[in-house]
Order: sequence, then C-alpha cells, then structure tokens
Amino acid sequence: MTSDDGERHRQGRLFTDDDGGFDAERARDESLPVEDGELIDTDELADHQRYVEGRGIYDERNRINDLTGKEWKYATKSVIAEGYPPAVQHDLRSEHGGQKPPRLCATLIGRFSKAGDAVLDPFAGVGGTLLGASFCEHEGTGRREAIGFERTERWIDIYETVLERENEARAERGDPPLAGQEMRHGDCADLIEDVPDDSIDLLLTDVPYWHMDELEQTRNERATRASKLGSFDEDDADSADEDGRDSAIDSTGERQTKAEWLADMAEKFERFTDAVAPGGHLVVFIGDMYREQSYEFLSADLARAIESAAPVTLAATLVWYDPTKDLHVYGYPFSFVPSMVHQNVLVFRPDGNE
Ligand SMILES: C[S@@+](CC[C@H](N)C(=O)[O-])C[C@H]1O[C@@H](n2cnc3c(N)ncnc32)[C@H](O)[C@@H]1O
Repeated sequence: MTSDDGERHRQGRLFTDDDGGFDAERARDESLPVEDGELIDTDELADHQRYVEGRGIYDERNRINDLTGKEWKYATKSVIAEGYPPAVQHDLRSEHGGQKPPRLCATLIGRFSKAGDAVLDPFAGVGGTLLGASFCEHEGTGRREAIGFERTERWIDIYETVLERENEARAERGDPPLAGQEMRHGDCADLIEDVPDDSIDLLLTDVPYWHMDELEQTRNERATRASKLGSFDEDDADSADEDGRDSAIDSTGERQTKAEWLADMAEKFERFTDAVAPGGHLVVFIGDMYREQSYEFLSADLARAIESAAPVTLAATLVWYDPTKDLHVYGYPFSFVPSMVHQNVLVFRPDGNE
C-alpha cells in the first residue's frame, strides 16, 4: 500500500455514518471525489478521465453529451417521471395547447448534445426547445445554438414575448438573461432547404398530431355544408384545434388521414435527416391516442414510417410520465380505457455513423 492509499483510506474512514458505513453525502459535502458511494482516487484516473467536482468522472471520449459517468447512468433511464409545474410564462405559452415544458426540453438537450452544439426544432410552436437550449447555458453544461421553424406567426410572437418577459423577471431576481434563439417563419419543408447538410447535432421536436376525430368531423361538416350550400368555405381549413394545438393538415389545408399524416411526416424527416450530422440524434415527442374502442399506437406507427423513409435507426423510446397529470374516468365500469399520463420520446440515430 502506498502512502497515498493510506491517506485515501484514512479520509474514507473519517466519513463513516452511524453504522460504520461510508457516508458519501458527507464526503461530497467536503468536496471529496465520490462516485457510486465510493471515494475516488483521482490519481488513478486515466488520461481521458477528469473528475468534475460534485458531478463525478467525465470521460473526454464522450461524443454524445457532457455528462459524467454517474449522470449518464441516470440519463439512460427509459422513463422520465417528472411533472413540470407551470413556469416560464406558462399562461402565455399555454395559448398554444401543445407546448412542451422548456426544462424537459433542456433535460433532453443535455442528454443528446454537447455545449455549443446546434439544435433544430422544425415544428417549434411557442419555443419549448429553443427556451430549453437557452436554459442549458445556466442550468446545464452550456448553451446550445437553436433554430426553430414555425408556420404560425402568433406562436412566434408568443415565443418572443415569453423571452422578453422572462428576461425582465430574471433581471429583477438578479439572474443572467436567457439567450434569444433564432425562430424562422414559414413551412419547415421549405425552410429546411436553407440548412446545410450535417450542420445540426440534435433535432428535437414535437410533431403536429394527427386528429382522427377531427378529420371525420370536418369531413362530415363539409359534406353537410356542401350539400346545403353547394360550395366550400375556405376559412374552414383552420390549423388550430379547440385546445389551440395544431392538428395535422397538408399544404392545401386539408385534414389528413392517418396514412397521409404518416407519409407526410416520413417525407419531412427524410429531408430533416440530411441536416443532422453523423453522430447526431433526432428526438421526437409523440403521444399515443385512444379512440373509438381502440388504441392508436401512433408512436410505433411514426417510428416505423420515419425509419422506412429516412436513413435513421430507432435507438430508443423514452417515456415522459407526468405524475401530476389529472386522471379522468373513462369507460368505468364496462371497458378498460387508459388514462394517458405519458408521452413517448422517439430517439433516432442517423445511419452509418458507427
Ligand atoms: C405540437 S406543436 C409544437 C409545440 C412546441 N414543442 C412548443 O413547445 O411550443 C407543432 C407545431 O408545428 C407547427 N407546424 C405544423 N406544420 C408545420 C410546417 N409544415 N412547418 C412549420 N411549422 C409547422 C404548428 O403550427 C405547431 O405550432
């Protein structure tokens, strides 16, 4: 045993709990290098390893993110069981109805990118991804540069107002401002053409949903109107749902069938993938649905549609479970109908980057 070892063991013994076990918490409080409940001998770290105080050992060979081994282990959990209380000008953002918590986006950005990486959200809404990328500067390992595409100007205005108000509130608290990210107005199918190939490290998005009920409802309403008036009112092709969330419509403003929606998404992701660098990731929020006595496994359908059109491989599906979500009673006592308290997060890797 070297004298160094003796010192390390002596320090280890100093931090014992009431039962004589190693008190990692106390050792950590004293800034001793601790990982997985053991004192780390920093002299024994390999050249590619670095101890980051309070976070564990970082491996310089890490190509995916800036997480230490300990953080990586936690980040590979397939379920994110976290409610995100209303925050970041939630009242304003909730006009959208399909907005994602910026801090959940920041968590995913931290798992699938490194500081300084480029993030793209082609369906950006009121900017959950963009705000998440900005949070990474102060609450993660460093800022990411993000670009968002959004075809509805109202959502872009809301993103900009949210950023302004949030930064006023942060200034009052003495917190540093959140960086503004780049929101581009237009159809993502056109805007993606200006994004150079391989220039994006992480595509994080939340796709516009397919709404089966609405398709049928809209078609029935149109049929009724057409039979009464003999004409179709173009204004009917609005893109916003009752809850403000955008449903899937095609470029002519027609509601889509599920097959059309899948084909549209697959075509768009085929082009999006060109923009993603080898070694990057495409991470996609998608909720399943229960309609008319049957479970619509939209996440599986979308994963297969994207995989069959774009040169990507599904690497994982994560589940975001929101334990704070209200439960509703459907089907009781005759039929089992799931109360959806989760969303799926599909994780794809571009092919050929091993
Ligand atoms: C589910 S929402 C995304 C919400 C976003 N994650 C947030 O936090 O606000 C999908 C968004 O995609 C937009 N969208 C749908 N089709 C689009 C297209 N072809 N080009 C650009 N934006 C589109 C919709 O207007 C909608 O705001």
